[in-house]
Amino acid sequence: MLSQKTIERLNQQINLEIYSSHLYLQMSSWCAYKSLEGCATFLSQHADEEMAHMRRLLKYLQETGALAIMGGMQAPPTDFNSLTEMFEQIYEHEQLITGKINDLVHLASTESDYATLQFLQWYVAEQHQEEFLFKSILDKMKLIGTEGQGIFFIDREVANMAANRTQETTAMN
Ligand code: FEO
Repeated sequence: MLSQKTIERLNQQINLEIYSSHLYLQMSSWCAYKSLEGCATFLSQHADEEMAHMRRLLKYLQETGALAIMGGMQAPPTDFNSLTEMFEQIYEHEQLITGKINDLVHLASTESDYATLQFLQWYVAEQHQEEFLFKSILDKMKLIGTEGQGIFFIDREVANMAANRTQETTAMN
């Protein structure tokens, strides 16, 4: 049995995960528009992963007998000054999500809600991986540079990351 506050906060997280998915799908579309096919594929995949994060929360709420609520979605930004700016925004967004997960963990802990505390551990580990992933892309961008052919090589690197992700997913199924 979840507290009303926990139900509200888990529902807020559901909405944040859907927003993350919309954000990455929009960014994917921007990359495709700029002929950055590797980044477009990678971000489209990531949008799917965000929906999987949302579904995990949805299932948990349903299992506890609570009502999951799909709220109205804020529209994501549609234009970016550069690929670097876009990935910086993603990294900042993931840090915000980590903060929200940490707030949820804190709430579950103060309420001695051990089931929710355990459920949230997956998200704690996932956010660590997500921050690491996007930080590593930004580090590669700094290393390669975005001038001239740099952008082409960055797109190719990100395309490789998307292909590896597909292989990992296929191997798991
Ligand atoms: Fe659901 Fe990218 O965090």
